[in-house]
Amino acid sequence: MSQITFTMFKPDAVVNGYAGKILNDITEAGFAIIAFKYTKLSPEMAGKFYAVHQERGFYNDLVSYMSSGPIYVAILQKVNAVADFRTLIGATDPSKAEAGTIRAKYAKSIEANAVHGSDSDENANIEANFFFTQFERF
Ligand code: CMP
Repeated sequence: MSQITFTMFKPDAVVNGYAGKILNDITEAGFAIIAFKYTKLSPEMAGKFYAVHQERGFYNDLVSYMSSGPIYVAILQKVNAVADFRTLIGATDPSKAEAGTIRAKYAKSIEANAVHGSDSDENANIEANFFFTQFERF
């Protein structure tokens, strides 16, 4: 069972002023924040982060969108973190996300979907290591 997951509050969530509300939803749901930062991806970094999607039709738009403005990134800790966080955020497409989930409340579209959440333990570690050193985790 996973202990950590990785999240990004995407440019739409930040520019629309939802970062505080999303952080509150996450802590209310029982996740501990063990690393947190405000940053901005270059197109190169966004391309690397989402390299697994490079054959998809939406890849170029996703890369330019994800590098269009600042984001918050965090490592979250909880028992069953990956699955529980995916339940908390809801479906990728906010029009299909269950009521009360973060994406149902704050996302604009399938691309500008407010938050990212890791889809496996392996990817949680890869994604956490992409942004954070061991000295930035408490
Ligand atoms: P995320 O959970 O960060 O993982 C991959 C991202 O690609 C996803 O959220 C969306 O932002 C984006 N994405 C997934 N499917 C589509 C799609 N069909 N069209 C546009 N963007 C998509």
